[in-house]
Formats: sequence, C-alpha cells, structure tokens
Amino acid sequence: MQTIIQKFFNLYESNQKISVVTCYDYSFARILDLSNIDCVLVGDSLGMVIQGESSTLSVSLEDMIYHTKIVRRGYKGFIITDLPFLSYQTSFEKGIENAGRILKEANADAVKLEGADEFILKQVERLSKIGVPVMGHLGLTPQSFQILGGYKVQGKDLESRKKILEDAKNLQAAGVFSIVLEMIPETLAKEITEFLKIPTIGIGAGRYTSGQVLVLQDLLGMNSSFNPKFLKKFTNLEESILSALNTYNSEVKNNLFPSQENVFE
Ligand code: KIV
Repeated sequence: MQTIIQKFFNLYESNQKISVVTCYDYSFARILDLSNIDCVLVGDSLGMVIQGESSTLSVSLEDMIYHTKIVRRGYKGFIITDLPFLSYQTSFEKGIENAGRILKEANADAVKLEGADEFILKQVERLSKIGVPVMGHLGLTPQSFQILGGYKVQGKDLESRKKILEDAKNLQAAGVFSIVLEMIPETLAKEITEFLKIPTIGIGAGRYTSGQVLVLQDLLGMNSSFNPKFLKKFTNLEESILSALNTYNSEVKNNLFPSQENVFE
C-alpha cells in the first residue's frame, strides 16, 4: 500500500501539478475532503486569518495542535502542519519533540519549518531519520518578516538569489520531501525546481513550480482589502456571505423568516 507521501510524490513524478490549500477548521476541512485538492496545509498564517493578528509570530504550538486536530476530523487526506515561531528555533531537542507532538497528538502527516541555516538543516536531518516527513519553506519566510524588510519579494539581487538556491539544495540534501517557495522571482523558482529532485510548491513564485499553495480564505475572496499581486480570487465569498447575512436580517425584521415551512406543528 502506498503511503500518503508516496502519493504526493507520484503526482510530481508523473508531471502533474500539485494543489495545496491552507485549512484551519472542521467545516472547511469537510468541504476540502469532498474536493480534488491534493493536500492541506494547516499554516501558521492562522495567526492572521483566524486570530486577526498582524503576523504569524504569536501562534503557539498548542494553537497548531488544536487546529490540526479539528482539520483532521473533516479531512482524511494529506495534512502538513506548520511548526510555529520558537517551537523549533531554540533547541534541537525541543524542535524534535514539538514536531513529534504534531504527528502524535494532532495526527498530521508531516511538518513544515522555515529557513535553512545549519541548525535547521540538522533538525531536518534528524526528523527525517526518525521518520517525520519535513517540508521546507524558503524565500519570504513570514516568521522572519522583520529582518526580511516586511512581506516583500525575496531573491531579487544576485547574492540573495544564490543564497536561496543554495538553501534549497541544502534542504534537499538534509531530507525534506518538498519545499515551499514564497514570493520569489519566477526565474529563480524555475531554476530551483529544475535543479531539485523533490517537488517545489509556490506561492507568489510564478508558473514553473511543481505545485501551488494559497490561503483558503484568500482564494475564496473572503477579504476584499487583501489583494496581493500573486493572488487570484476564484470566487467572491465576502460578497455572497454579506448578501446572505443582509437577506437574513431583512427577513427576520419583516417577519418573512421563519415561514410556514420552518415551523414545527
Ligand atoms: O502559513 C501558511 O499559510 C504558509 C503558506 C502561505 C505557505 O506557510
């Protein structure tokens, strides 16, 4: 029987693009389970999307475990969960333990972490050796947005381009099964994707990555004031939800709801 990671890898090997979306709760997880989406990421973007924070930094490991558990109740497929800020950067042992908790307690299939310095590479190596599938994340790594100068495109000059390519090679050698490439020039993402033997998943990284990831609420158009260049809104749920809420409000006020068909005899 094929493992869930092998199925993910099969898509890559058969040159099929891989679709990934974030999810943070049961009601969307249930719908995603009915969809053709290949993989779900319980991203620490939940800090912004669900908790209304201005960055991902305040998200805790307990938050990630809680949200992964409730996504798992609705989604049976491949779930990757973010290791949040400071859950893997402070000590080697802590990183391994926390990644293990995400798999053991929340039933995720894999974890994702950001960056590729020596410390991170060592963790990836150890996690992979003990059987924890790890996804890397390069380019704009939101947990370091302060030192990256904000939420900006990375890898624009030759030096940072080289560094991101080098980091990608090192992560692959350390054992990641895939790498997210966020907000980098399309040509760089193409070069990395062509070099690596593992799938790259892009967000704001152009057309040539092995797959794409988007935040679910963004692709569903739930926030009319969030309009980055890389985003395509595949529907306008903000408008639909507002319209439904205002119709409900008006029907309540005008005694149209509940009607005969909604009442018990
Ligand atoms: O947290 C997240 O949602 C992510 C994706 C944007 C890749 O890391």
